[in-house]
Amino acid sequence: MARFPSFYCFVLVSISLLLFRNVSSDSEDGTENDPDCEGRWIHVRRLPSRFNLDLLRNCSEYPVYDDFCPYIANHGLGQKTHNRSRSWYRTDSHMLELFFHRRVLEYPCLTPDPGRADAVFLPYYAGLDALSYLYGPDVNSSADHGLHLFDFLQTDSPEIWDRRSGHDHFLVMARAAWDFSQPIDYDPPVWGTSFLHLPEFFNLTALILESRPWPWQEQAIPYPTSFHPASLARFEQWLARVRRSRRTTLMLFAGGGGTAPGPNVRHCIRAECENSTSLCDIVECSNGICEHDPIRYMRPMLRASFCLQPPGDTPTRRSTFDSILAGCIPVFFEDLSARKQYGWHMPTAEYPDFSVYIPKEEVVSNGLKITEVLLGIPRARVRQMRERLLELIPRIIYRRHRSSAGLVAKKDAFDLAIDGVLQRVKRRLAEGDELSR
Ligand SMILES: *[C@@H]1O[C@H](CO)[C@@H](O)[C@H](O)[C@H]1NC(C)=O
Ligand SMILES: *[C@@H]1O[C@H](CO)[C@@H](O)[C@H](O)[C@H]1NC(C)=O
Ligand SMILES: *[C@@H]1O[C@H](CO)[C@@H](O)[C@H](O)[C@H]1NC(C)=O
Ligand SMILES: *[C@@H]1O[C@H](CO)[C@@H](O)[C@H](O)[C@H]1NC(C)=O
Ligand SMILES: *[C@@H]1O[C@H](CO)[C@@H](O)[C@H](O)[C@H]1NC(C)=O
Repeated sequence: MARFPSFYCFVLVSISLLLFRNVSSDSEDGTENDPDCEGRWIHVRRLPSRFNLDLLRNCSEYPVYDDFCPYIANHGLGQKTHNRSRSWYRTDSHMLELFFHRRVLEYPCLTPDPGRADAVFLPYYAGLDALSYLYGPDVNSSADHGLHLFDFLQTDSPEIWDRRSGHDHFLVMARAAWDFSQPIDYDPPVWGTSFLHLPEFFNLTALILESRPWPWQEQAIPYPTSFHPASLARFEQWLARVRRSRRTTLMLFAGGGGTAPGPNVRHCIRAECENSTSLCDIVECSNGICEHDPIRYMRPMLRASFCLQPPGDTPTRRSTFDSILAGCIPVFFEDLSARKQYGWHMPTAEYPDFSVYIPKEEVVSNGLKITEVLLGIPRARVRQMRERLLELIPRIIYRRHRSSAGLVAKKDAFDLAIDGVLQRVKRRLAEGDELSR
């Protein structure tokens, strides 16, 4: 990993500060009476920089974790994959907190008046702040994660929170819920902070990369891929390439793990692939080597019909979204990998139309061969599924900030997340009225 001199990080942070300032002053006037904004007003809570930008200054200070300084560039999209690349970045999914903040600042219906807002965005980089509890000096006080934020909300203009008891507040947590949901009194501690277990935060909405299996205050939104086009033309160029790509491999697994024998679906996939090399391709991604290097897996995904998405340490994978972007039909082995997660972005009822489901028990315990299942799907059906999958692409990408009007007209993952939040807040407030009647 390249180590960046700390002054470089400082420059990045200063640049972000400047850009954030400019954007926020631009967008806080001019739209006050826009009828399209009815029911969609968002107020961005002003938080001291210790809750967001200061956290970026520490980007090289977590010894057990990567130095994440390089991924801060371009408001969290990371650096471009190479100098001439226009839409491809070395995006780290944990930086979504930063990028989402940037996109909120260009949302057309921002209001400086919290009393008028339909929802309140907290630009708190919760996952980055969690690093000092997960991997840093605060590892033994992980039940404290978030309390300083709550203190601030209670002491600085407390009426903003109190107006709706926090039911209209939302934030982004760019990790899995598992990293934030350790019961407060676990002794000895196992893993994670207790942010999502604090009653102080039960009312807010947390947009997260992976939610818990039961409905709670979080909602999963897509992992960012590395593709962030800024114009409709670039988006359509990519779509055309995906559509005409020749699919010469039946199935592909891009990932790591599964090398140790045992009753584990990744191991079964590897065994099956080693046996049928003409039908199956493996892109070796152990030790995170693919994470910031989309070229390694995007080309192979363009050549495969199906992309296997087995659960790993947790049920979801960024790779699911990379494969959708490549038009490679995802094969899921459990519902928690996507169907029970991303309901705002990928319609739950339509999974059979764009993905394949093979229960992992069938593979692990009953010896079901994945290749046989996939070979059994008629070609015409595979084409249909791919077409349906292509329709999802605009919904799961995060287009670049300051995109052209043509691309802005299509709803991307950010826009759908905002729509979801507004609907959810409205529903919760209505439920609250119902209860108090
Ligand atoms: C991060 O920065 C803060 C102050 O800005 C400091 O107190 C802390 O020790 C730094 N390092 C880590 C790993 O949190
Ligand atoms: C990319 O651009 C940077 C800065 O302009 C330059 O230092 C670097 O050599 C370039 N890399 C390539 C591969 O052209
Ligand atoms: C956390 O607690 C454990 C067990 O008491 C101790 O060994 C460790 O040094 C503590 N870590 C820090 C960073 O205080
Ligand atoms: C959460 O909402 C409930 C019901 O609206 C309210 O009684 C409670 O005080 C709220 N919690 C916080 C921390 O604001
Ligand atoms: C590998 O192929 C052999 C011979 O066709 C077959 O008996 C065996 O079950 C296959 N193993 C796997 C894991 O597919």
